[in-house]
Amino acid sequence: MATTILNGRELAQTLLKEQTEKVAELVRKKGRPPGLAVVLVGEDPASRTYVGSKRDSCRKAGIYAPDINLPVDTPQSVIEEKIDQLNRDPRVDGILVQLPLPKQIVKDEILYRIDPGKDVDGFHPVNVGRLVIGMKTLAPCTPTGIITLLDRYGLSIAGKHAVVVGRSLIVGKPMALLLLARDATVTICHSRTHDLQGETRRADILVAAIGRAHAITKDHVKPGVVVIDVGMNRNAEGKLVGDVDFQGVFPLSSAITPVPGGVGPMTIATLLENTIRAFCLHEGLPHP
Ligand code: GUN
Repeated sequence: MATTILNGRELAQTLLKEQTEKVAELVRKKGRPPGLAVVLVGEDPASRTYVGSKRDSCRKAGIYAPDINLPVDTPQSVIEEKIDQLNRDPRVDGILVQLPLPKQIVKDEILYRIDPGKDVDGFHPVNVGRLVIGMKTLAPCTPTGIITLLDRYGLSIAGKHAVVVGRSLIVGKPMALLLLARDATVTICHSRTHDLQGETRRADILVAAIGRAHAITKDHVKPGVVVIDVGMNRNAEGKLVGDVDFQGVFPLSSAITPVPGGVGPMTIATLLENTIRAFCLHEGLPHP
């Protein structure tokens, strides 16, 4: 069976070109670019890299992306004041606070302080609620990017059996809701699922968001499956590896995302998409 490699890196480049044109059009119309404030607290090396990529992509597209870096020992109240200030700032359409936050910080108090109209992560309960209801909303970037990847590769969702492994608020739960909104039949599996292999072997579309290297093997899939690997794990040699044993699963799948170069770049592309949406919302322009 011929297997399609779902090249998120290439698609993200295509989207960046489209977004750059869109941003230029918005500047012509409204006299200012969309703005995204990515807030980094502390010095975690992985977070610094992710935040750097997010800001770089924004700037390439012409989006205003100020550096907001706070020291690791910043008190809760100072971060909250920063959020209040960004909520009021008319140049800022989107706010993203990079996770994880240092341990003295009560994360939810920070995330729920962000104006829901600027919540490009889609983590605020108002936006989660809108997603559950099936309203238009700012939805989390990783699962939204996965839907875009499936759509752009012409892989249909309606009527398919989608199995999502993982129930996090960042990926698993919103992924299941987005697939449901597109008329998939959805199963959510997690660490307490009794017969994981039995469940995953029924999947037409399998989304692995477990956080354990090579947790999904050839014994977890049926022939023809579309496999989406959200995993970003470091193996013993320090190499980035997914939740899926790519070598083993590849021959059985009709389409599969690599790690790296699959889901990761789509997450950033979607962050730009959400920022542009938030801008249109704030400026009273039509938004998709
Ligand atoms: N850390 C890892 N993934 C994410 C994400 O999607 N959003 C934020 N804010 N932090 C993260």
